[in-house]
Amino acid sequence: MCGIVGAVARRDIVPVLTEGLRRLEYRGYDSCGVAVLQYGVPRRVRSVERVANLAEQVDHAGLSGTIGVAHTRWATHGAPVTGNAHPIFSCGEIVLVHNGIIENHEALRKELKTFGYAFDSETDTEVIAHLIHHMRKQDPTRDLLVAVRRSLRRLRGAYAIAVFAKSDPNLVIGARAGSPLVVGLTDRGNYLASDPMALAGTADRFVYLEEGDVAVLTCDGVKIVDCGGEAVRREVQTQRASHHTTELGPFRHYMQKEIFEQPSVLADATERVQTLTPTLFGANAPHVFKEVDSLLILACGTSYYSALTAKYWFESIARLPTQVEVASEYRYRESVVNPRTLVVVVSQSGETADTLAALRHAQQLGHRHTLAICNVAHSSMMRQTDLQYQTGAGPEIGVASTKAFTTQLVALFLLAATFAQARGVADAARQAQWLEQLHHLPAALNGVLALEPQIIRWAEAFAHYEHALFLGRGMHYPIALEGALKLKEISYVHAEAYPAGELKHGPLAIVTNEMPVVTIVPNDALIEKLKSNMQEVRARGGLLYVFADEDAPLDDDDGVNVIRLPAHDGPLSPILHVVPLQLLAYHTACVRGTDVDKPRNLAKSVTVE
Ligand code: F6R
Repeated sequence: MCGIVGAVARRDIVPVLTEGLRRLEYRGYDSCGVAVLQYGVPRRVRSVERVANLAEQVDHAGLSGTIGVAHTRWATHGAPVTGNAHPIFSCGEIVLVHNGIIENHEALRKELKTFGYAFDSETDTEVIAHLIHHMRKQDPTRDLLVAVRRSLRRLRGAYAIAVFAKSDPNLVIGARAGSPLVVGLTDRGNYLASDPMALAGTADRFVYLEEGDVAVLTCDGVKIVDCGGEAVRREVQTQRASHHTTELGPFRHYMQKEIFEQPSVLADATERVQTLTPTLFGANAPHVFKEVDSLLILACGTSYYSALTAKYWFESIARLPTQVEVASEYRYRESVVNPRTLVVVVSQSGETADTLAALRHAQQLGHRHTLAICNVAHSSMMRQTDLQYQTGAGPEIGVASTKAFTTQLVALFLLAATFAQARGVADAARQAQWLEQLHHLPAALNGVLALEPQIIRWAEAFAHYEHALFLGRGMHYPIALEGALKLKEISYVHAEAYPAGELKHGPLAIVTNEMPVVTIVPNDALIEKLKSNMQEVRARGGLLYVFADEDAPLDDDDGVNVIRLPAHDGPLSPILHVVPLQLLAYHTACVRGTDVDKPRNLAKSVTVE
């Protein structure tokens, strides 16, 4: 989704701005731009092509300067054309980039037109630039901070902005409400970014702005005021934003690299756990765990599917009633609050607008206990919950989530096992068995990844279909949902998932000899039921593609394609079964020639509603 970089330094900041945009590319965007103050005049270059192309244009135009802002835009208001790309100018004086959505932009646009402002773009962002210009004109001191703060008070919606003015050649202002923004500190200048990864190699000391904060950056320092206008000090965090994240190594795409990183990230995530103890989830967790009698898990997309899988664990192994809800639904419905419920938000980025809003909604309703399960340590969700768990997947560049999903599953399994321990529903032998199964996961995953050549052969056939069905039962049903999502988002094959028992209640009508039906067949208590469902497909000529455990009792049958996973039983089976589905989606997309790491219309971090 949109990305921001801003800079004020004692050196030419253009390389930092373009490199920052390059590092933000993985989030998804459809246009980009850079603006600087050069010899006292704002100059900008914008493009609807990739950042590499923008960088060439910037070079060609000879852009340089000591203050500037840059942006990758993911279109919401107005098409992805150069005229709507940021930075946005107002009257050749104000230069601004913006992430988020301004909900009252139409009313503001009307009002600003009455003051004589002409609009050059269809964006909601342009109202902010004009508003700041207008507020500044009204103020005899012409103070940019005053104008920005007065303007922000008029906005409804979510924003992170970076702005500079022609007549203030030494400062850049950043502000946030609802979208993340971080300040990077160095001895030679100060920087803004929507994600600290943008500043890797430039800054390693960061200040995470709080909701409503406005930061004034000069070469020599940073002044922060809170939403009430009071000067505040925010904690400085030292954090080395990793360089290796953007290196592809021997892989063709980041998604492939990230699929193959799963054994090592899962080893890191599981090896650090030698006993099950609530403190894994924060210092206050032992107290909270005693009070909790149920769970409410809120998430979106792939993270929602990890939560759906975990519901089976929470109810079966921890005996804890668990409700899982899509965040964008929960935030707008009337719900009943049980103060003993632990609200868990699950998110790779920790910045997803719907999940963040659902968390705040739950807190406003009176939920006291909250836990974030996130991949990003200092994300908004991690900062707004009383308990936290970092999943440790490392940066995920491919838009389609893979290792972030499996590490979420590990975190959620640990949470379920820890609740089982804390609630006294699992004896020591059972706990030891779970830990052993967790520690064995990396080796088991290596066995699954070795199936890649067989999956590539399937993908060659699969790539010719336009539709596919995915079936699973029990805790493998959410894995079928995740498999269908992976396939559709990167290969654009229309895919749907059903609990296998639902087939006869409708979807069977679309099964013909043109319909591939991917079926997840673990060797568990439901296998005989699943075999009956597979017969229903075969009887209609449907093409079965089965991922079965090695020891699953299946007859060889004409027209049924089977890939056997190394034998594995127990509750962690979904973590193994999702991996071949990731590979199937990945290789199908490769055969179809799509832009695997940056699928059309999608963004990595969805910071708008
Ligand atoms: C799909 C995918 C998305 C995200 C969703 C939530 O591969 O990655 O469905 O899971 O946008 O994002 P996070 O986990 O960052 O809250």
